[in-house]
Amino acid sequence: MSATPIRAGSEYDPSSWPEARENPGFAGDTGEFPGLDEDGVRGLSYVGERPADGGHASVAGTLPYQVATRDPEAPLFVGPYEERLEKVLGRYPDRQAALLPALHLAHELRGYLSPQTMDEVAEKLQLPPAYVRGVASFYTMYNLAPVGKYLIQVCTNISCNLCGGDAVLESFLKHTGTEPGEMSANGLWTVMEVECLGACGFPTAVQINERYFENVRPEDVPAILERLT
Ligand code: FES
Repeated sequence: MSATPIRAGSEYDPSSWPEARENPGFAGDTGEFPGLDEDGVRGLSYVGERPADGGHASVAGTLPYQVATRDPEAPLFVGPYEERLEKVLGRYPDRQAALLPALHLAHELRGYLSPQTMDEVAEKLQLPPAYVRGVASFYTMYNLAPVGKYLIQVCTNISCNLCGGDAVLESFLKHTGTEPGEMSANGLWTVMEVECLGACGFPTAVQINERYFENVRPEDVPAILERLT
């Protein structure tokens, strides 16, 4: 059976796409759902609005949002965050099993896991500090050093790499004036290279805080940074 040919000038014909190819970093309106704009799909905020207590217990342990202002001195596990930890603990057979979401919670509040933060988590979960540090340093999604207000994660895995991911990474580094993993002097930016954001159909994929930018090209970078500031 032969495939249905794409009609020239139809909404599925790339040559007829409007200069919405001026992207920057949004693959929403590719013809399948005409009329969608980025804000309609993703909301206006660059940071999450999930309640600090985690909402319903069934989702309280899922990946966190990064709050707008991270405070390395913020108290852990108090108020709504204590409530959230209790919900998380209720979903696991023992405290050790709740270590990853407990670390995520601390990560969300403080922006990174310092040795002191890891020790506080260890104490709260009654686990050996060395064990907690071993787990936290194993997973690359935990930051072990402070990051900027906007954490920019650029995928350079195979799909994105073939479509210029390295050049996109270079462009972010150049326009933020940083080295990979380093926080800019103004505290706004940290750019990191990551492996596969699960958006391989929309290379190059970039995650800024918890939001995705898709089909990003090196020339889109200044406009994306401008939107954030
Ligand atoms: S290869 Fe980049 S998102 Fe999968």
